[in-house]
Amino acid sequence: MKKHNFSAGPCILPQEVFKEASQAILDFNNSGLSILEISHRSKDFVDVMEEARTLALELLGLEGKGYKALFLQGGASSQFLMVAYNLLQTKAGYLNTGAWSDKAIKEAKFFGEVIEVASSKDANFNFIPKDLDIPKGLDYLHLTSNNTIYGTQLKNFPSTTTNLVCDMSSDIFSRQLDFSKFSLIYAGAQKNMGPAGTTLVVIKEDILGKIERQIPSMLDYQVHINKASMFNTPPVFPVYTSMLTLRWLKKYGGITAIEELNEKKANLIYSEIDLNPLFKGFAAKEDRSNMNATFTLVNEDLKETFDAMWKEAGINGINGHRSVGGYRASMYNALSLESVATLVDVMSDLERKA
Ligand SMILES: Cc1ncc(COP(=O)(O)O)c(C=O)c1O
Repeated sequence: MKKHNFSAGPCILPQEVFKEASQAILDFNNSGLSILEISHRSKDFVDVMEEARTLALELLGLEGKGYKALFLQGGASSQFLMVAYNLLQTKAGYLNTGAWSDKAIKEAKFFGEVIEVASSKDANFNFIPKDLDIPKGLDYLHLTSNNTIYGTQLKNFPSTTTNLVCDMSSDIFSRQLDFSKFSLIYAGAQKNMGPAGTTLVVIKEDILGKIERQIPSMLDYQVHINKASMFNTPPVFPVYTSMLTLRWLKKYGGITAIEELNEKKANLIYSEIDLNPLFKGFAAKEDRSNMNATFTLVNEDLKETFDAMWKEAGINGINGHRSVGGYRASMYNALSLESVATLVDVMSDLERKA
């Protein structure tokens, strides 16, 4: 039986994408060849890469606005250093909202002055700092739109003339934003886009070429742009599967349509967390993430019973991250409302039994 998969990433993808991707491993485009054995320079694969890049820009509403989409390797973690390598000349601002922002800050410090504009570290990142005092003269301001571990999400983005750089790894393509506010967006594929192994970088080309240091080719955005994201052998299968997922999203109705579903799922679980006296939410209410809902049991003695119940219901992947504890229900784009309803039923069953 297919599980209700609430994993935080890698995570659930649409079933039809799994089917199509597995077919392409056996026979890609009726070519008699597997996608895994063809040249990345073959027309069939070049078409895949181009479609993936175009779909990413189209879904974000950034086509024809001076942006380029790249599918790179090294995970979102490599972007922590690539961003700074390519953009940090003197000083950059970072909003510290979680372990991933913290890591991005650490990498940026290799390249210049880093100003932490605000941090919620002292509160174990259970809220998003607001009313930022953004210093003048920054090369960019770095934000993390969704904090996967803590279940917080930026609802309002600071209005500033500084270049905005955003790690959208865990909520890209999940909600409508004015993406043209951002100079650079990056996201590891393994949540809303595809399997692990590729990272989407969407970059406004005119922000490049402003720094003095030399950049090694593999870490230079301009090199990857000039080579249409094919400077070296790209991660063929993750790019292909991401392309299929983006096609699926477009067919679904794009970000506006999926956002509606994501809101329904989030409302369902958060109402249960708030109404059921056995559970307590972790994140500040106004900052709650529509992607990752974090919660704990009020009485830890119920843990064994609850764990047995959700496993019995075919639920997978709701154990919380070790730094927060409790539970985390990740509800990425491909997770159905029915899966969330199943979890909510288990939570209310526990209340009836306890
Ligand atoms: C918000 C965020 N940023 C960065 C990362 C790191 O991504 P990667 O493992 O692709 O380096 C993650 C991983 O979960 C994440 O959730």
